Amino acid sequence: MSTLAGKHIVLGLSGGIACYKAAELCRALMKSGVTVQVVMTEAAEHFMTAVTMQALSGRAVFTSQWDNREANNMAHINLSREADAIVVAPASADFMAKLLHGRADDLLSLMCLARPVEQVPLIVAPAMNREMWANPATQRNVAQLRADGVHVLDVGQGDQACGETGDGRMLEAEEILEDLESFFAPKLLKGKNVLVTAGPTYEAIDPVRGITNLSSGKMGFAIARAAHMAGAQVTLVAGPVHLPTPRGVQRVNVQSARQMQTAVAQHVDTAQVFISTAAVADWRPANSSDQKIKKDGSGQTPQLGFVENPDILATVAHSPRAVSGALFCVGFAAESHDLLAHATAKRERKGVPLLVGNIGPATFGQDDNALLLVDVDGARELPHASKQNLAIELVADIARRMG
Ligand code: C5P
Repeated sequence: MSTLAGKHIVLGLSGGIACYKAAELCRALMKSGVTVQVVMTEAAEHFMTAVTMQALSGRAVFTSQWDNREANNMAHINLSREADAIVVAPASADFMAKLLHGRADDLLSLMCLARPVEQVPLIVAPAMNREMWANPATQRNVAQLRADGVHVLDVGQGDQACGETGDGRMLEAEEILEDLESFFAPKLLKGKNVLVTAGPTYEAIDPVRGITNLSSGKMGFAIARAAHMAGAQVTLVAGPVHLPTPRGVQRVNVQSARQMQTAVAQHVDTAQVFISTAAVADWRPANSSDQKIKKDGSGQTPQLGFVENPDILATVAHSPRAVSGALFCVGFAAESHDLLAHATAKRERKGVPLLVGNIGPATFGQDDNALLLVDVDGARELPHASKQNLAIELVADIARRMG
């Protein structure tokens, strides 16, 4: 379940071409179980009709501070008191300047000013031309709004409606949704550095062939996202997978087990948690060829010898920081049967306090899974759910163990 489920959000639109993305955002919020009350400035109505936003949100849109539909004629008070958050997307340069000065000459700015700041967070998604964004006045305003406790989201980069290219685009609806989900998640790992490995490794036979496995990386990416949502600084060492990087997560791409080991070694010293979800290849070809091995027509096949790859998790788990408890290590086991017995044995062999078992073939590539958490005292099941929800539960479990 999304951290947004059951929330009531006032979605404010100020003037900008990015208003079209607010329509997508409204739908995405509703899909996540949010009730959305739309408030639009007069400028926003030049870019998007209130009719569209009403149809999408299922609620009449408010556009004026003189709207007398409210019995007490105080829409700015009533709407802001009901909200779990006010999200202004798009927030134009002008609207942010207004917020900064506490001006209140239209319903949206009036409502932002009138909100109880301790109970109703204000989140703004800026959208403007790159020169407007780079202008010292805007940058000053953003810094001051942040200092005033307003949560200013990042801007996107790329082609702009004006034909120019640069910073200042409003984030896509999905990106804003991801940031809002993070915003509402409990910050159980605040101040912690978390290192996650994910995906398969690829062990080259020659420049065009190699051996790998069926890991999709989805579980590890979900864990990286959940750790970021919980307030951690997350580094994700990823084998070759085609998955988007979770927002706010630092990603390091690798191919082979040895590259993964090097990347882990570079980041593990500053981590307090190491979660090893990667399906590291147990063996690699003893001699990988620099050139493509050619079929010569004789019917002879190449003789492939193998050597064992380093066990990254076991090495880290036996390091002094892990042994002293400064680094909490979590291993994964993908098994085909006898999950409890294999996971219990693997936990001891790897030397980790927590080992998470799952049935490999059933979960590879899927969006859902079921987990078995095995520690020194026994096992606890996390029943079948989406990988993202399981990741959130697992991160909460790890945070509890760390005190
Ligand atoms: O492959 P195996 O079942 O032993 O994997 C168990 C755990 O060990 C996983 O967390 C995996 O990421 C880790 N591992 C590792 N290096 C290896 C093999 C496995 O870090 N060479």
